[in-house]
Amino acid sequence: MNKSLAKTSEELTIEHLKGDFGAQIVDVDLPSADQETLTKVVAAFHQHGAILLRNQTMEPDDLMRFINAFGEPELHTQTKFCLPNYPHIFKISNMLDENGEPIGAHNDGLGWHTDYSYKEEPVMCTMLYAVTVPDEGGDTLLADQVAAYEDLPEEQKARLDPLKIHHSLVHFIQNREFNSYEITDELRRENPDVIHPMIRVHPADGRKALWVSTGTVKHILGMEDDEAMALVDELVEYITQPKYVYAHKWQKGDVLMWDNRCTLHTGTVYDDKKYQRMAHRLWVKGEKPISVGDL
Ligand SMILES: [Fe+2]
Repeated sequence: MNKSLAKTSEELTIEHLKGDFGAQIVDVDLPSADQETLTKVVAAFHQHGAILLRNQTMEPDDLMRFINAFGEPELHTQTKFCLPNYPHIFKISNMLDENGEPIGAHNDGLGWHTDYSYKEEPVMCTMLYAVTVPDEGGDTLLADQVAAYEDLPEEQKARLDPLKIHHSLVHFIQNREFNSYEITDELRRENPDVIHPMIRVHPADGRKALWVSTGTVKHILGMEDDEAMALVDELVEYITQPKYVYAHKWQKGDVLMWDNRCTLHTGTVYDDKKYQRMAHRLWVKGEKPISVGDL
């Protein structure tokens, strides 16, 4: 056995993705896994912030069985990119249909963020299953917000612990570089601005994450706008230093899931004229973020 492999307390064989962050689970075939094994995989997910399982062959029903082990699947906003009869499976792709129309979302996840941060209850986890991968580029980057928080000086933790961030989908759409779209009255109604803690407590074990991001962040309560956004920019730059970031290089058959309660993520570009990509994305519903003050 490779020295870096280790048995978790749940007796899965894992290898960390980066430092103490993330877990590649090396001895599980998901479509044939029994319920007891899936329960161990879910436990590993809650413990490690992200999990990776390679060389999987997942039909849509396999994806649904797996995602249901984590909780209730979340629907996606752009239903036209979901698999027929599978509204919880969303296609990320640069491919076009016979009429030249996109069959999936392209360049949608560029920029450091956490999914559905503009919702009262942001999605708990995001799963991507790689169907077709580019030969190069298109890495997914995950930043470990728990390690970043733990490394802060105690006085900085005390300063940040009570802060609240104003998130806004409308602000995000108005300022995004890719895929900006029309802000309708319906969209405004369905997505009122929300206030979330800057320091988010993980419900599994109470670990704290420095839960700042870009895009939907409009303001920090009680601060001047300039001061607030300068602090957000500074903290995002801090969290996304290479020492906190795992860069996932995709292989066909990869299942990667990350915990949106304690990670930031971003897609990266690839040569979309030269290569094709297809990934299936699934989400699990989350809960209202827990703040330090709730403890
Ligand atoms: Fe995302």
